[in-house]
Amino acid sequence: MGSSLPSEVERSFRALPSGSGATLPAMAAPARRPDPLPDDLEDAIERLKRERDAVVLAHYYQDDAIQDLADHVGDSLALARVAQQSRRAVIAFCGVHFMAETAKILNPDTRVVVPDLKAGCSLADGCPADEFAAFLAEQRRKHPNLVVISYVNTSAAVKALSDVICTSSNAVEIVQAFPDRPIVFAPDQHLARWVAQQAGRPDIIAWPGSCIVHEQFNARALAELRVKHPDAEVLSHPECDAAVLAQSDFIGSTKKIIDRAVASPARILIIGTEDGVFHQIRKQVPDKELIQIPGLDESCSCNRCPYMRLNPMEKLYLCLRDLEPEVTVPEEVRLRALRPLERMLELSKAS
Ligand code: 13P
Ligand code: SF4
Repeated sequence: MGSSLPSEVERSFRALPSGSGATLPAMAAPARRPDPLPDDLEDAIERLKRERDAVVLAHYYQDDAIQDLADHVGDSLALARVAQQSRRAVIAFCGVHFMAETAKILNPDTRVVVPDLKAGCSLADGCPADEFAAFLAEQRRKHPNLVVISYVNTSAAVKALSDVICTSSNAVEIVQAFPDRPIVFAPDQHLARWVAQQAGRPDIIAWPGSCIVHEQFNARALAELRVKHPDAEVLSHPECDAAVLAQSDFIGSTKKIIDRAVASPARILIIGTEDGVFHQIRKQVPDKELIQIPGLDESCSCNRCPYMRLNPMEKLYLCLRDLEPEVTVPEEVRLRALRPLERMLELSKAS
């Protein structure tokens, strides 16, 4: 009591036998206390944005508060375009890792930071570059003229193995740009199936990946909802499985779902994507009723992407303050991944 020694050191000092000649162990330097978070995080983030010359980009699956303070909110295609054109010193990317990596590939002189490096994606994680390279080698033996179209939800190393990238906004358009060539489409099997139908390309060879969020929407529960609300419109993301998509009136990217929800004459909308999109829809059409397609396990919030939701305000503040964690891409990989990304941007001017 009243001692200035940390308790563990004090205890070991008292335990020394008297007269033993033993000396007090060297005391470790006290750990530096982390600076407390400011009370007004929003204000502090705005100040840091100015000080760091930073732009904050947020995907529609971010928390409402992050969407509201971001400089740009968008789907993966729109955010890639904004990142490419940014002339700011720093991009703070509130989304998932492949999106921040795409920003770095397109704009290498900008420092790209993220609130949490662990914000991954089941699609990107389910398509490791070495396994994809082996798969492509096998397919090329059968189809020497193969074109490799990879969804943006992939690592830089997988993009580097691809001929062209697509997002859910422009996937049909990109596939239609290669009418005479065999196509490998990776890594989302559900998006691949839907694109094959839309583009009239049943021969597409798909990598068997899936999104853990969209795959869990329950087709049977959706059928019940449609009976209960016969006038409702069903809007789904193409990462949902075939049984959900077959019951959907409109299928499109997050941005297209938001735009359709606003424009639709229906008052009740049943939605098959992450509920982060509800925020932008409610801002524009607050009187509409939004119903989420229930998940297979109704006891969990599985409709929320566990990776996208790793970015609360506190971590955004810290990444702007410390300018880390930083997202980097080895230059040799970046250059090989850049070509297919630029090709996508050229081919999808209308999306
Ligand atoms: P969007 O391209 O529609 O933004 O989708 C990205 C995504 O990860 C959906 O799960
Ligand atoms: Fe990846 Fe699915 Fe999350 Fe989108 S919702 S980032 S596809 S895990």
